[in-house]
Amino acid sequence: MSRPARRVPATATAPVYRVALVSGANRGLGFEVARQLSERGMTVLLGARDLDKGLQAARKLAGAPGEVIAVQLDVTQQDQVDTLARWIEVTYGRLDVLVNNAGAFYDPAASPSGTAIAPVRDAMETHLFGSWRLCSALLPLMRRHRYGRIVNVSSGCGASTTDSASCPAYRVSKSALNTYTRALASELEGSGIQVNAVCPGWVATDMGGPGGRPVTAGAAGIVWAACLSEPLTGGFFRDGQRISW
Ligand SMILES: NC(=O)c1ccc[n+]([C@@H]2O[C@H](COP(=O)([O-])OP(=O)(O)OC[C@H]3O[C@@H](n4cnc5c(N)ncnc54)[C@H](OP(=O)(O)O)[C@@H]3O)[C@@H](O)[C@H]2O)c1
Repeated sequence: MSRPARRVPATATAPVYRVALVSGANRGLGFEVARQLSERGMTVLLGARDLDKGLQAARKLAGAPGEVIAVQLDVTQQDQVDTLARWIEVTYGRLDVLVNNAGAFYDPAASPSGTAIAPVRDAMETHLFGSWRLCSALLPLMRRHRYGRIVNVSSGCGASTTDSASCPAYRVSKSALNTYTRALASELEGSGIQVNAVCPGWVATDMGGPGGRPVTAGAAGIVWAACLSEPLTGGFFRDGQRISW
């Protein structure tokens, strides 16, 4: 005789399985974001352009509630992005959260008139085109489930309200990332996929240097946007508060 089916209380909801990808997650803010997302039970793909560094970082998070898997990802390499997107589709059939965190080319000593074009192009390649190519490659997987949270890790430095000559390559590339964020969010309005930019504030990482606030605090604002349950899209936030573009 078969057992009677268990009656599920009307209020019970099955936990939702979520898969997240964080770029530049072998250290700094990306690593902490990966840790905090895995603490929430998400399966986290920890992107690292040096896979050995990624594996070492993922090992530190073994035993977290959500599984953490190192994946090779240099965001400037289209073939790596395409290969990873195919692998995620075959392995998980979904991607719920994309955190475009990979960053570099902070150039406080440079000036707009004095800088060479090469570092500006490199900054654009990582911050703007890297984020763009990841979004384009992974949006089909988000569209499939009509759910997605894309967080572009930006900087107040890229706000158009700030006038400053410092960090020209970094500033212009983050500003471009902000504009891309708004354009993509507009396109995806009503799709279930929310796209926001987040400034983590000044954070004591290798890039931020000493004196910044703890990495846990900077990462928390990114994780907040990655886990949004309210319909917020096309915004620029720091610590969960809207800031000016
Ligand atoms: N720290 C701050 O005060 C601050 C403030 C505002 C915004 N942000 C933003 O926050 C993000 C994280 O910064 P962070 O402070 O954590 O910097 P970080 O400690 O220097 O870490 C940067 C990470 O990005 C990775 N990366 C760089 N280029 C990459 C590429 N082409 N492909 C894949 N990964 C790449 C690095 O990998 P490797 O280890 O291989 O170099 C590293 O994992 C950046 O987007 C940054 O602009 C930081």
